[in-house]
Amino acid sequence: MTRIAVIPGDGIGREVVPVALDILEALGLDIEFDVLEQVNADTYLRTGVALSPDDFRRAQGSAAILLGAIGDPRVRDTNYGRGILLRLRFELDLYVNYRPAKLAHERLSPLRDPERRGIDCLIVRENTEGLYAGIGGRLRAETDLEVAIDAEIGTSHGVSRIVDFAFSIARTSVCLVDKSNAVPNNGGLWQRYWRDAQKRHPQLRTCHEYVDAAAMKLVADPTAFDVIVTNNSYGDILSDLASQLAGGIGLACSANINPGSGHGLFEPVHGSAPDIADKGVANPIATILTTALMLDQLSHREPAQAIRNAVYKAIERGRVTRDLGGTLSMKEAAAAIRAEL
Ligand code: IPM
Ligand code: MN
Repeated sequence: MTRIAVIPGDGIGREVVPVALDILEALGLDIEFDVLEQVNADTYLRTGVALSPDDFRRAQGSAAILLGAIGDPRVRDTNYGRGILLRLRFELDLYVNYRPAKLAHERLSPLRDPERRGIDCLIVRENTEGLYAGIGGRLRAETDLEVAIDAEIGTSHGVSRIVDFAFSIARTSVCLVDKSNAVPNNGGLWQRYWRDAQKRHPQLRTCHEYVDAAAMKLVADPTAFDVIVTNNSYGDILSDLASQLAGGIGLACSANINPGSGHGLFEPVHGSAPDIADKGVANPIATILTTALMLDQLSHREPAQAIRNAVYKAIERGRVTRDLGGTLSMKEAAAAIRAEL
């Protein structure tokens, strides 16, 4: 029996995770769920603890972690998010943040030119270093002489392995995105490993873009991109951009994985969306597609593909929530997908 640790979390995470689990259960796989109900903002506000040692142990000991969303307007300090999502990414060394963006249906593209709508790109975001490493601090905080430092960390170990991963999954090309015209030290490190990998994969096309130009080119013609490999922050930003080109953040799934150890944390790219939480209108697709990524990782490839096919059919029939132009509630949209399954 495969055990999955499930953290519904906050906001719409608490709504979309149960319907996604129902779909997984309907597939009759040999999977059990260990639901960490208590990991949420209420607990943090009450106890000051984001993830207890027992929560961490259960997450670490599972075959995969499914996370709905973390975030609550009542929690202003960053220790909460850092203590759950970033802690799991860092301490389980989930160095790949894999975010596919594939246009779900023609009508969902915001682009005018039909020829250029068909985005099908894989964003490979470094997930354990960069500006997220937490190196820095504040000197003379809250005074007019304050100094604030958030250092951008790039290491040979971290950069080489993410670049290698990107080349290993590319279908046609790898685009390195950095900002080396203004941030040269990390730029130099990334380019060194990227050039090394280029030599080892002569069959793949490669390109190099500064992140500002990459954002522009993604909108101008997303079909020009296959794999984009980039650092933690640029990957964060470009994956939201790409998700909108693919049909909206309500569809965007992601995997945080360590291909060596097999640890993985799977989460929809959207957050807790407090503005629409508890209204029953959230789009469950991002989480449902995220469970498909998780099944892929657990080598249940056929059920994973069945889930994707069911999602695409429901979208084609317009059996979707309002964000995708439909009229269904979250539960109805999930039921439509189950019916296709
Ligand atoms: C994401 C989110 C997180 C990130 C936040 C919640 C810290 O935006 O998963 O993309 O920046 O990585
Ligand atoms: Mn983000």
